[in-house]
Amino acid sequence: MTINNSQPTEAAMKRIQIFDTTLRDGEQSPGASLDPEQKIVIARQLAKLGVDVIEPGFAISSPGDFAAVQQISRELQTVEIAGFARAIKADIDAAIKATQDAARRRLHIFISSSDIHLDFQLKKSRDQVVQIARDMVAYGKQFVPEIEFSAMDSSRAGREFVIELVEAVIAEGATVINLPDTLGYAMPEEYGEMFRTVRKHARGGDSVRYSAHCHNDLGLAVANSLAAIQAGATQIEVTLNGVGERAGNCSLEELVMAIETRKSFMQAETGIVTSEIYEASRMVSRAMNFPIAFNKPIVGRNAFQHESGIHQDGLLKNRNTYEIMDPEAMGIPRSMIVLGKHSGRHAIKHRLAEYGITPDDAQLLDVYTRFKERADELKLVPDDVLIRLASESTQQQHD
Ligand code: KIV
Ligand code: ZN
Repeated sequence: MTINNSQPTEAAMKRIQIFDTTLRDGEQSPGASLDPEQKIVIARQLAKLGVDVIEPGFAISSPGDFAAVQQISRELQTVEIAGFARAIKADIDAAIKATQDAARRRLHIFISSSDIHLDFQLKKSRDQVVQIARDMVAYGKQFVPEIEFSAMDSSRAGREFVIELVEAVIAEGATVINLPDTLGYAMPEEYGEMFRTVRKHARGGDSVRYSAHCHNDLGLAVANSLAAIQAGATQIEVTLNGVGERAGNCSLEELVMAIETRKSFMQAETGIVTSEIYEASRMVSRAMNFPIAFNKPIVGRNAFQHESGIHQDGLLKNRNTYEIMDPEAMGIPRSMIVLGKHSGRHAIKHRLAEYGITPDDAQLLDVYTRFKERADELKLVPDDVLIRLASESTQQQHD
């Protein structure tokens, strides 16, 4: 048997657009609301991060959000701005007005597509929903050529109806079709299959960009987004730190680093400047007052901690033994990586050497013994404590 392990060529790489909705869907996390000034500061960092599209808020929802969308549209002329609207004229008017001064913009219109939403929330028939979607896309198209249409709750909707709705809005000029997993209910294979089916069967479906928007209720938002990419989606909607309604949205940093780390498997890449990830993540955490879980992939405190002596020893010999990513590539300072009670002598020697301290074997043994005592107490031993232990040890040897 011959196994072909060849790397894809650059030309075969799919460029995935990153649509950041931290300031709209992310802000819908209970207790996470931001004032316009905070939104502007975060939007500047999103631009530095290299996201392709920023959704800065919901213009009709409050004067503050309108002002934030307007100011971000005026200031950030290098990024495309999405104006978010229900399929209602007043929402569309507000989104169009707030994004008026953007260098590049799109109108993002959504309406529900699942029967449960139609029956209990909208109280409308499928035919009525198709007509509203048609009318509102046509209305928005008079003002903005780029129209994104989201079929909310599409993963729980009837496939045939999603196809009918998508066909209708494409006929009216929608240019991006977003198929959200609004409740985080889909399984990766199922979500991918929806994209394949809609792309194959919706008339005009070849002329548009497909987008995934996944919530994380079952912890599958990143997996589902990756499945959508494999099924032809070229835009993924994300938030920093995965903030968002309930269990949140697909996390920007996790998705981007999954693509980056497994580029040849995914045959995809993004335009994200990964070295800005850590700063962006901390900024959002501080502004929203949302702590980041210690074990959160990529940006959590422990994401690059190696407690066990065996792992630390391997790392010192070759980082690839126990690391699949270089934390510095995400802007994570090495000083973040602290030692603990499972750390071995090698790791301590190595860390001391980084500060120009080179104990002989007897001194190292003494520092190591002191370190273990402190580690039992502190759990994690910061570098300043380690340096103090080394100097106490030297001091005692001289006394
Ligand atoms: O989760 C969702 O369905 C959304 C859409 C309105 C885009 O946020
Ligand atoms: Zn959402």
